[in-house]
Amino acid sequence: MTETNEATRTTYRVCVLPGDGIGPEIMAEALRVLEHVGEAYGVRFACEEHLIGGAAIDATRAAGRTPTALPEETLTAAKASDAVLLAAVGGPKWDGAKLGEARPEQGLLAIRKSLGLYLNLRPVRAYAALANASTLKPEVISGADLLIVRELTGGLYFGAHETQADVPGAGANGAAGMHATDVMEYSEYEVERVVRWAFEAASRRAVRKVTSVDKANVLSCSRMWREVVHRVAAEYPQVECSDMLVDNCAMQLVANPGQFSVLVTENTFGDILSDEASMLSGSLGMLASASLGDGTALYEPSHGSAPDIAGQGVANPLAQILSVAMMLRYSMHMDAAADRIERAVDAVLASGLRTRDIAEPATPADKIVGTRAMGQAVIDAFEAAE
Ligand code: IPM
Ligand code: MG
Repeated sequence: MTETNEATRTTYRVCVLPGDGIGPEIMAEALRVLEHVGEAYGVRFACEEHLIGGAAIDATRAAGRTPTALPEETLTAAKASDAVLLAAVGGPKWDGAKLGEARPEQGLLAIRKSLGLYLNLRPVRAYAALANASTLKPEVISGADLLIVRELTGGLYFGAHETQADVPGAGANGAAGMHATDVMEYSEYEVERVVRWAFEAASRRAVRKVTSVDKANVLSCSRMWREVVHRVAAEYPQVECSDMLVDNCAMQLVANPGQFSVLVTENTFGDILSDEASMLSGSLGMLASASLGDGTALYEPSHGSAPDIAGQGVANPLAQILSVAMMLRYSMHMDAAADRIERAVDAVLASGLRTRDIAEPATPADKIVGTRAMGQAVIDAFEAAE
């Protein structure tokens, strides 16, 4: 029997982008979980797989086309879908790309930009069961529960990039050398829409607090950011708001993470701080993310393609599976299904099962499992929670 169908529609189109490295392995598990969700809730997820990243560069090159990390057909499919589920891109194979040559990461940046996904959500929670897997002391991370809201299509990553060779005086001792420029720029509206989202999210959380992170003691972008934050904050008197400099924030995240609820920041700072914050949950392998904005939303783990362990069946699929939960919550409004996946992950961790990245020295060998077994354990817990 199926449960009451809480979703508003019965078929959803999901554009699936496994990408590179461990991508295909962890995606396979996420899709198996999704299939069980479909059965349990009477919803059909029409999944269509497409290329992105290094896989797309190789395929377009092999087909005699201009190599690209985001082929036109992938973008077209993404736009026509209800959600995009992405794994990870990149790897050493493409690291040697020369200036002007296609790079896997361009695919990710381009799809975010093309879909207008200006907002990236990275929830970070200290899993009690993983308290000893983190490099940080259990008493420091205990109870940490924060939402990082990262601006995603502006700033340094999308400003003009330029590298010049043989610039007089740019080398050592006055010789000619290379000179490179990356421009950080923001318009007020780009700041306002993410800041407003952060305040909305904070006003619905148990701890109604926004920490805005910037470098206002140095950067013009940050001074403008701060001005916008203060203006928007005035509309949310129920939400406590404070500013924090990014260098201090990097320290506070590992010194006293319990002080944060919603953390909002620009693109580059958010990129760096979210990797750092992932250690609060025990491993970067636990962190899911949602990218929202104007077009089809995109869901992906916060971690990379881990080329060093690709193809071995040992990668942690949990961040990918938790990304499915975020997709169900934000794109399909299937909150009960999302909660049920998250509870299933909790139950699996509580049962002691671990992939290598979240195992501890004390983890018994028979509790250390591979990608497939971890996926299956989540499915079993999901079914058991019916
Ligand atoms: C991330 C990644 C990407 C980013 C890279 C691969 C371009 O690090 O999603 O955090 O910086 O946004
Ligand atoms: Mg990153």
